[in-house]
Amino acid sequence: MKVLASSDVSAQVSCSALVVMAFDGPQLSGSALKLDAVAGGLLQRLWDRGEFSGKLGRTGLFHDVPGVKADSVLVVGAGPEATFDEGAAFRVGGAALKRLADKARASVAIDLTDMATEVAASGIAGAMNGCVGQDTFRAEKNLKAIDELLCCATTQAAVKRGEIIGEGILLTRELVNLPPNYMYPEAFAKRAASVAVTCGLEMEVWDELRLRRENCNALLAVNAGSSRPPRLLIFRYPGKKKTQPLALVGKGVTFDSGGLSLKPTDGMTTMKCDMAGAATVLGTMQTIAQLGLETPVVGLVGLVENMVSGSCFKLGDVLRARSGKTIEILNTDAEGRLVLADVLNVALQENPQAIIDLATLTGACVVALGNDISGLMTNNAELTEKIEAAAGAVGEYVWQLPMHPHFKDQIQSQVADIKNIGDGRWGGAITAAKFLEEFVADKPWTHIDIAGPAFADKPKNYIDAGASGCMVRTLTKLVESM
Ligand code: BES
Ligand code: MN
Ligand code: ZN
Repeated sequence: MKVLASSDVSAQVSCSALVVMAFDGPQLSGSALKLDAVAGGLLQRLWDRGEFSGKLGRTGLFHDVPGVKADSVLVVGAGPEATFDEGAAFRVGGAALKRLADKARASVAIDLTDMATEVAASGIAGAMNGCVGQDTFRAEKNLKAIDELLCCATTQAAVKRGEIIGEGILLTRELVNLPPNYMYPEAFAKRAASVAVTCGLEMEVWDELRLRRENCNALLAVNAGSSRPPRLLIFRYPGKKKTQPLALVGKGVTFDSGGLSLKPTDGMTTMKCDMAGAATVLGTMQTIAQLGLETPVVGLVGLVENMVSGSCFKLGDVLRARSGKTIEILNTDAEGRLVLADVLNVALQENPQAIIDLATLTGACVVALGNDISGLMTNNAELTEKIEAAAGAVGEYVWQLPMHPHFKDQIQSQVADIKNIGDGRWGGAITAAKFLEEFVADKPWTHIDIAGPAFADKPKNYIDAGASGCMVRTLTKLVESM
């Protein structure tokens, strides 16, 4: 998809459709009101008749509007003007382009009048994602991505920023949406290598032999049942500031069958999404590198397949993680924390100022917070406040869960240093985080459980079902604030 700044006023752009917006309120407002002046009052009449409204994400499509060169005008509701921010802009842009993706269109223009750079950019990123769906393997696509997005009444800087962020989210979504027979550890590594080359990231690849020499035994145990080799990838973005890097760590289970603690069919069907943490790290690394941000960042992802075979790891196995801690395996479906145990230990070697990990770690987190909120669990309030502020600024939802010391009692083992599950299912998101905490030494660390938001069963009005690309915008904003 090409994204271009247009120097024409929006009414003068020749294209398939022009998008303008109206805020929620008693009067016609926003770029829809501006366009009404050249449209001879038509939009005002349509507003008065209730043909469209300012409700966030609602759309009205009108054809052959007088005074407008575009074939059609789409008016999209932007919600209340007072609360219009980056989060609203992302959803409004998404809703508009999702509506227009009903048929193939060569070019669509969007009017970004009166938006600050970051808000306009967020609208562009949302628009780019709204028209791309999860059905890339279907001959007749539900959403037809547009070829060219023309951005009117904004700056070149906003367009560039919007395109970079939009592409980062699209990359994460594409990786997650790819089926597990296409997206396995080596395939992820291959794709990551091409991303690293295009955006100038340094990338280090640990293959199976290296993982063995590095004692990544917990990660290797999870992959033991797979006929495909595992990978650990390290991406280094040097930044411009002479500070310690921020480390971003991602869970990359390209398919989670549960292993011998096998998942039922219903729980397994969407488990291609279990590498969303790794995909979010890569999408974010690409975004911050292309934006040329100041702060150095190192990304680390552990890529495995959790499968069943004669060589898979077993209940009762005791593993010695890279850190030296021993782990008793009591459920092979609690595999993400095992992968992360070793990757977090490798991250410590990079001497980071702080570590943030992203993982589709527990169903319990979805039970606690629902489908749209990521859980935050931390050993450091200050780092977590920064993440909360970044998420708030871009309109993504996070909520902190408590990490009281008594949860640690639940992961004590009779035979090893710790065990890989808690005593029962209650508080499962937290016992998982308590397990991870054992592997971050005394570094400031926050765990983000994205099991709910990373992958949706149902479409939203601004984005298709499937991978959401959540947290790419939050992490980008966070790195900008550090
Ligand atoms: N990948 C799953 C968690 C998950 C569930 C992600 C739903 C996305 C949607 C994880 O590996 C898992 O299986 N967790 C178990 C942990 C349990 C065995 C302690 C769970 O949540 O049931
Ligand atoms: Mn699992
Ligand atoms: Zn998993």
